[in-house]
This record gives sequence, C-alpha cells and structure tokens, in this order.
Amino acid sequence: MARITYVNGAYLPHDRAGVHIEDRGFQFADGIYEVVQVANGIIVDLDWHLDRFEYSLNELKIPMPMTRAALMVVMKNIIAKNYLPYGVVYMQVTRGVAKRDFAFPRDVQPSLVVVAMRMKPWPDAMIENGVKVITLPDIRWKRCDIKSVSLLAPVLGKQQAKEAGAFEGWMVDENGFITEGTSSNAFIVTKDKEIITRAKDHRILGGITRARLLVIAQEHGYILKERLFTVAEAKASSEAFISSSSTFVMPVVQIDDAVVGDGKVGAISKALRKAYREFAGI
Ligand code: PDD
Repeated sequence: MARITYVNGAYLPHDRAGVHIEDRGFQFADGIYEVVQVANGIIVDLDWHLDRFEYSLNELKIPMPMTRAALMVVMKNIIAKNYLPYGVVYMQVTRGVAKRDFAFPRDVQPSLVVVAMRMKPWPDAMIENGVKVITLPDIRWKRCDIKSVSLLAPVLGKQQAKEAGAFEGWMVDENGFITEGTSSNAFIVTKDKEIITRAKDHRILGGITRARLLVIAQEHGYILKERLFTVAEAKASSEAFISSSSTFVMPVVQIDDAVVGDGKVGAISKALRKAYREFAGI
C-alpha cells in the first residue's frame, strides 16, 4: 500500500515528499513539531497536543499554518489514507522557505508536513522486565518547553545511551537534578510510594503523556509531587519509569550501574501503564 504524506497543501507519495533546501527548518532548525499517538483511528489527547503545538509556534512567533480545524482534517486524512488504526502521526511546521538570513524573513508562508508512521509494539520482555537508563549532562538550550526540531543534543544523548546498552538517557542539569529523558519525561517512586517528577519549567518539555499521568495518578489515589530530584535520589528510589506518546509508561529498573528497588518492575509503574493504556484504548 502506498504511503501518503502531506506537504504544504499536497498529499504526495511518501518517497516524493520533500521540502526546499532553503527551508528554514533544514538550515536553522527554525521550526517545531508534534508526535501524536493514534489508537483505533483516534488521536490520544488531541486537544492537549494542539494546545502545545500552538504554544510552541507562538513562542517562536511562527503563525499557525492553517486553522486548528483544518489541521485536524489534514491529520484525519493522513490517518485514513495510510490506513493507520494504530501508530503515530508526526507534524512539523517551520518558518518557511527564504534566502538564508538569520533574522525572520518577511512575507513567508510556514511549511507544514504531516506524516503517518507505523510503530512496532515494544517487545513484551522490555515492559515486563523494565529497561536501563544512563545519566548524562543536559547540554540543551534553556527553552526545552518549546517542542523545537533542534534535536542535536537529544540525538547525541540517545546514541550515547544506545552505545551503553540503555534504552534512554536521563539528562542532568548543572545542579545535579534530573531534567528528563532525551525523548521522554522521567519519574521516580519514593520508598513512601510518592510519585515524583520534575515540575514544568523551561528545562523540560511538558509531555502530554506526563500531563495525562498526573490526572490518572490522582484518580487512582496516588500521591504525586512535582519537584526536583537528584541522580542520587533516583538511584535510591523504589521504582522509576519514563513516559512519552510512543512508550506510554516504560518501567526503568537500572540507572547507570545502580539497580532500582529490587530490580523488578514496580507495582505502581505497572498499574499506571495499565491505567494509561485503558484510558488511551491501546
Ligand atoms: N518525544 N520530553 C522530551 C524531550 C520529548 O522529546 C518527549 C516526546 C517527551 C514526552 O512528551 P509526550 O508525552 O508529549 O510524547 C518529553 C517524542 C515522542 C519524540 O520526539 O518522538
């Protein structure tokens, strides 16, 4: 079946879908993106994703490429044209195509790309046994709340994690506090069964899965605190996990060389994963 991708007003065969070499996304990473999960043909937490999409655009002073309603139609068309009941839709907006000059160009149309991506489910063993993360310095810029396509630091971090046999890299700020994963939010569970995740600030992306988990945790009667936590506290915690649109809740059983808790997937991580999947219909 032919894969179809949306580029600036046209639905094209994926192999021929491209943008100009002077697109500012290509030359300056001057753009933003969103990744949404599709379950049973429906986008999980679509409104929240679109809110974040508009927030990122506003922060960079890039206009919406089309109305929210029109964008929803494009996303639905892409899901239908690619027969994607389950998977991921990737959307990217850049400031547009213009002669290379750092300052904003005038009278330029933002570029919009919407891509459907099939996802293989994570191996059962990973979810049942948990994964390892490594810690690394957070060398990103100071506006990580914007979902910018400038992803070089996370690319290097994820590669470092991969080479260390780890699933994710947890980034650490100058004061020794964990910010988040290279492409996920970081959580720990204390010995007193309190779920801890860093509060939203400019040093992390406000994950949509994270936001949903805050609601789910409360509904299930868990105590969840948004506060800073150090690498040492994480290593001494009884459970840990990451969250993102593509992993939902992924249990973590090792941080660097330290085993988390008893080295097995924790009960709270397991319960939250189950509750999130039920909510999302995945
Ligand atoms: N990454 N933090 C960072 C730095 C991320 O890149 C992501 C998402 C998250 C989790 O956000 P959400 O729950 O909204 O997916 C947190 C996506 C999946 C990606 O870049 O592929």
